[in-house]
Amino acid sequence: MKVLVVGSGGREHALVWKIAQSKSVEKIFCAPGNGGISSLARCIDISAEDIPALVAFAKKEKIDLTVVGPEAPLSCGIVDKFFESKLKIFGPTKQAAQLESSKIFAKQLMAKYKIPTAGFEVFSDLRKANTYIERIEQPCVVKADGLAAGKGVVVAQSVEEAKAVAAAMLEAKAFGAAGNKIIIEECLRGQEASIIVLVDSQTIIPLASSQDHKRVFDADSGPNTGGMGAYSPAPIIDEDLFSQIRSTIIEPTVRGLRQEGVIYRGVLYAGVMITDTGPKVLEFNVRLGDPETQAILPRLESDFLEVMLDAAENRLAKTLKTGGLKWDSRACVCVVCASRGYPGEYEKGKEISGLNELREMKNVMAFHSGTKKQGEKYFTSGGRVLGITGLGPTIKEAIDVTYSAVAKVGFEGMHYRTDIAKKALQIFK
Ligand code: AMP
Ligand code: GLY
Repeated sequence: MKVLVVGSGGREHALVWKIAQSKSVEKIFCAPGNGGISSLARCIDISAEDIPALVAFAKKEKIDLTVVGPEAPLSCGIVDKFFESKLKIFGPTKQAAQLESSKIFAKQLMAKYKIPTAGFEVFSDLRKANTYIERIEQPCVVKADGLAAGKGVVVAQSVEEAKAVAAAMLEAKAFGAAGNKIIIEECLRGQEASIIVLVDSQTIIPLASSQDHKRVFDADSGPNTGGMGAYSPAPIIDEDLFSQIRSTIIEPTVRGLRQEGVIYRGVLYAGVMITDTGPKVLEFNVRLGDPETQAILPRLESDFLEVMLDAAENRLAKTLKTGGLKWDSRACVCVVCASRGYPGEYEKGKEISGLNELREMKNVMAFHSGTKKQGEKYFTSGGRVLGITGLGPTIKEAIDVTYSAVAKVGFEGMHYRTDIAKKALQIFK
């Protein structure tokens, strides 16, 4: 099979790495890819959001399956356009992708189908939003309705902060049209986990559980980021809790969408908070998580390309009948190395050292996010630069091997969290 992967981050590097191990793969292309991906796939200079150019490329190269990493092309309708050209693609349609591209769509669906989530109200008028903020308990959470590159959610600690965020979104248009409407919701407390499943029109197959680390600094302090590290499995999600999440969140969401006339096919990701009163949805994503994917795919023993093709062709039931997905019992930890300044404005163009040494280490992978290759050298080109990932028989050993690999790489201004997966140690030794 000829495969096209759309995107350029660590998630896409992990996808390309896993697809390269498939018995069915003949050639992999990645648009636009990055420095690390270029050693496994032919990177083509087309942006992930240039849908007409991607359709034309897939036609010309007779691509057998296209796999989309990020949310932006999905919410712009890449799947619909590929279908119109009779090209095979794995992902939700534009209508289904609203689950991520409109937080209001997602919240209203959850309210209608009684899917547990934080209580909320929707506002487009700042005066009304302010009156509401004065009435409710603090902290509260203020969210822009549309896509805001992971920056459209603020957990506000005071009335003043909540009002300032609401004004920035509704009046100063800090996120453009994505902030024409906002949600103000109840702040949930507990541990977060990422539940990611594959869905076709009849079947749901879960991937292994994982946990992200959203805040930039140790002990979950500092601003939110795209994710500073992840581990899998998440021991907090035991079998009982998983089946509760499946029956109260995942299945009613897919069923509710169907009742609204929307068939969901692709990856469905529920970010959940495990509260004292049970799991509640924080957000839905319509794609794999980044960095969660870097911690999940190294544990997957099954042929992921075949499974994604089955999902694209509505044959996931076959995967279930043949025993479902097979997982390595080892734990996996991914630590993100970021550029100075991230998640704010960050530096670029710094030479990365130590990658060759890392190649010699066992059970360690360096997934590239923001890197560029020039000759034989790699340079930073993004906020998140590398996802150093390690496998170990216990979570403790996975943490140790991963941090010993992190110690070998470097670039000017590199920063990373030193406590990735520490939470898991308290539950799971
Ligand atoms: P989202 O993009 O909706 O996942 O929000 C990003 C992050 O904000 C989440 O991973 C949580 O850490 C935090 N968050 C979002 N909604 C809530 C909430 N209702 N209560 C507490 N934290 C939240
Ligand atoms: N790691 C969170 C996300 O992919 O949205």
